[in-house]
Amino acid sequence: MKTDKKKTLEEKVRESAVFLYSKGVLKPEIGIILGSGLNDFADRIKNPLIISYNDVPNMEAGLVSDHRGQVVYGEYKGKKVIIMAGRFHYYESHDMDKTAFPARVMVSLGVKRFIITNAAGCVNTDWNAGELMLISDHINLSGNNPLIGKNHDKFGPRFPDMTYTYNKDLREKLIAAAAAKGIKLREGVYAMFTGPSFETPAEIRFARMIGADAAGMSTVPEAIIANHAGLEIIGISFLSNMAAGVLDKPLTGAEVTEAAMRIKDTFAEVVDMAIDI
Ligand code: HPA
Repeated sequence: MKTDKKKTLEEKVRESAVFLYSKGVLKPEIGIILGSGLNDFADRIKNPLIISYNDVPNMEAGLVSDHRGQVVYGEYKGKKVIIMAGRFHYYESHDMDKTAFPARVMVSLGVKRFIITNAAGCVNTDWNAGELMLISDHINLSGNNPLIGKNHDKFGPRFPDMTYTYNKDLREKLIAAAAAKGIKLREGVYAMFTGPSFETPAEIRFARMIGADAAGMSTVPEAIIANHAGLEIIGISFLSNMAAGVLDKPLTGAEVTEAAMRIKDTFAEVVDMAIDI
């Protein structure tokens, strides 16, 4: 829906949240953002309430690269879950307010646990493409931060701590739960590049040198907003490909989507566990 330029960010977030509430999105406990190629997870919700981004005030549906662009809400695994199927990437708008908008709306709706998912390039050469990684920490290489500008004190402090962004207790539980089902989860550091060009081999070598295990173009803005508001965060990266230069071959977006199709059942099992634990 069209954005009214005169409203403040806080007003826009409130307007979107009130709209979703009026449509029946009531007290969601778990918020999920689905990454590239991973949107099918939303189909697991039975009798969902589906609202197109087009209909939500201030959600710029045109910016969503994934065709869905839907808010999906419903009861799942005994919990009230809201899913943003279709993400706003920073590279689509060059605007952090737009990029992190769905996360802010989820915060405003009162979500307690925030599950952020993405597809990423595997930087760690001891690991393999096709594996799943829990994010233990991140490196923000975007050159921007969604909290720049006026602080919204209602949500969190001016200088929020980032030491415990990705909840350690939940990570341990999730790794154990996954292991019990024979699913191996890696744990590592996610570096955010802006994209949309894939990284160069030299940038990937640099990322590895500074401690990154995975490289992607999302997640960090949403995690900063959710952490600011004190939410429990679980970050799940699907390592769709070895990052640039690890193998002597070019990368394509199609490769990422195809790999995501292959992992989607295991991915869904892990997200299920992230809701359950
Ligand atoms: N780099 C950045 N983002 C990505 C990649 C990658 O190699 N694969 C999937 N998303």
